[in-house]
Amino acid sequence: MRRPVEEDAEAIASAVQASLSGLARWMPWAVADYDTEMALAWIRKKSDPTEEGFLILGPDDEIVGTCGLNRFDAMNARAELGYWLRGDRTGRGFATRATRLVARYGIEELGLQRIEIIMSTRNEPSRRVAERVGARHEGVLRRRIRLPDGQHDGHMYSIVATDGLPGPARNPA
Ligand SMILES: CC(C)(COP(=O)(O)OP(=O)(O)OC[C@H]1O[C@@H](n2cnc3c(N)ncnc32)[C@H](O)[C@@H]1OP(=O)(O)O)[C@@H](O)C(=O)NCCC(=O)NCCS
Repeated sequence: MRRPVEEDAEAIASAVQASLSGLARWMPWAVADYDTEMALAWIRKKSDPTEEGFLILGPDDEIVGTCGLNRFDAMNARAELGYWLRGDRTGRGFATRATRLVARYGIEELGLQRIEIIMSTRNEPSRRVAERVGARHEGVLRRRIRLPDGQHDGHMYSIVATDGLPGPARNPA
């Protein structure tokens, strides 16, 4: 994993374009006209210290997706963790490994006490990622997420600092 730089914008946009059929349902930003400018805006936003986004790299350093922390709540030392993968790079554990690394980074380096992973109750692949990393299921938040086809209930998973750190001792930065 590594942080994105502006030169990645084109590759990110093409990864999104290659994955629209799988992404659009769950990620409202994944629109049909997603382009390099939109990827650039995302990269620039990630240079803000309250946004942490990392590229997930496959063999040959190709961009296979992203994983990051957002919605920082400094007062409570809390943030949300999100991820997506190229449609043709699922089923290989990239999201699971990235989530472990980013959660570990958030707790060890940023001092977060609580990391939330929230997904639609209909998003089974995403729920399986949270389960695989050992996040704890805390319940279902009613009508928590607005997606293109309407309002969805959301599973609330959490990793907290006192759980013990997930995954290997490596920093993704
Ligand atoms: C959610 C999403 C990232 C999950 O992708 P994924 O490929 O299922 O997740 P992983 O990369 O962790 O891969 C796990 C799969 O690879 C398999 N796998 C292979 N090698 C593995 C390894 N070393 N470690 C873990 N899993 C491995 C697992 O068995 C699992 O397969 P299964 O789902 O059939 O049980 C993907 O579906 C996606 O991008 N969806 C659209 C965006 C989205 O919904 N994001 C989340 C919004 S809340």
